[in-house]
Amino acid sequence: MKKVRMGIVGLGVMGTAHAQSILNGSVKDAELTAVCDTYTPNLDRVVGPRKFDSVSALIRSGLIDAVVIATPHYGHTVVGIEALKAGLHVLVEKPVSVHKADAERLLAAHRNPRQVFAAMFNLRATVRYRRVRQFIQDGTLGSLVRVTWMATHWFRTNHYYASGGWRGTWKGEGGGVLLNQCPHQLDLLQWFCGMPTRLMAFCKMGAHHPIEVEDEVTAYLEYANGATGTFVATTGEWPGTDHLILAGDKAQVEVISDGRTILRRNRMPTSKLCRTSRETMPKPVPEVTEYPAEKEGNEHLVVLSNFTEAILKGTPLIATAREGLNSLELSNAMIYSSLTGKPVVFPLNGAAYARRLKQLIRGSGRGSLKSPGKRVRPARAK
Ligand SMILES: NC(=O)c1ccc[n+]([C@@H]2O[C@H](COP(=O)([O-])OP(=O)(O)OC[C@H]3O[C@@H](n4cnc5c(N)ncnc54)[C@H](O)[C@@H]3O)[C@@H](O)[C@H]2O)c1
Repeated sequence: MKKVRMGIVGLGVMGTAHAQSILNGSVKDAELTAVCDTYTPNLDRVVGPRKFDSVSALIRSGLIDAVVIATPHYGHTVVGIEALKAGLHVLVEKPVSVHKADAERLLAAHRNPRQVFAAMFNLRATVRYRRVRQFIQDGTLGSLVRVTWMATHWFRTNHYYASGGWRGTWKGEGGGVLLNQCPHQLDLLQWFCGMPTRLMAFCKMGAHHPIEVEDEVTAYLEYANGATGTFVATTGEWPGTDHLILAGDKAQVEVISDGRTILRRNRMPTSKLCRTSRETMPKPVPEVTEYPAEKEGNEHLVVLSNFTEAILKGTPLIATAREGLNSLELSNAMIYSSLTGKPVVFPLNGAAYARRLKQLIRGSGRGSLKSPGKRVRPARAK
């Protein structure tokens, strides 16, 4: 195979952007040979590839080697399983599925190791977050003490939620800020810190918008080594901030909203200072290095190119679909903890969460998201 013949399912905001990137030659060794959207007017958004209004017809067409899935979230599992069973390489948009049990079914359909199965976690391709991971992996930070992430920069309007019938509902989207916007940060959180052992979260459903799902989250996390974390996110705040602080025994790293990264190295590990200092409140000045914000490229392109290279040359993936299970489990656990009012001990019971989600879906779609000014009472959890 010299070039990967790519298909895209879902020509909405994201699928169209991916299609244009391939069509304009930005993804080396990839050609867009076919696209599919069940809402046929959206097929007019691209010129050139063969067009299908049925996913099965696209998958069986023989026109594609690989497929990018950019449908609403529930479609990821259904389309993904069909594509994997047909032997195609798959790149699935985040989140990999809506809930853990669905994701496990999707991952179980990936039986052939020669089939590439990737996930679109484009923030992993940014210089600033790669640097943070390096600080953790090379021991610069020392053992993790605390992680704090304030991800309140995801402001969305009522008009946004009304822009697609699936948005803002349990039935269509399967969650809110945790399922749509935060998979990126939750993926990085687990990429940096691993999975927590336990978390407790408080989600507000429709706090800022006429939607059923969570648009505000405050979570507390605990890790096996005793480290703790907090994660705060919303789509209802302006100006928000995207502020990450990782405190380790040897250093602290901070990534600020404007893209700068500040590394503060301790002259002595905090645990040793605490044990050995004869002072009561020492304030040793750390060694500070500031990394200016880089102009980031189009990280989606980096992931698309990496996917193509993985198919053609076996290049390791930036993010495998299997790794996407972790961010999904974190988001599910935060919603579950909030609904039950109890901490979640990991691993999350995927079947129990799926049952709870089903209850929410039964009460889903009662309000109209088409009238942005109107407040819709959130579905009540039983
Ligand atoms: N990686 C990122 O930075 C990023 C950014 C935005 C969205 N996304 C993800 O991309 C996906 C799509 O989001 P969007 O904002 O483009 O949504 P959208 O509503 O704009 O587009 C979804 C498209 O899928 C089509 N569709 C629905 N069901 C289908 C099916 N079964 N088969 C074929 N087509 C179908 C719809 O008609 C629509 O055109 C979501 O998973 C979202 O989380 C990722």
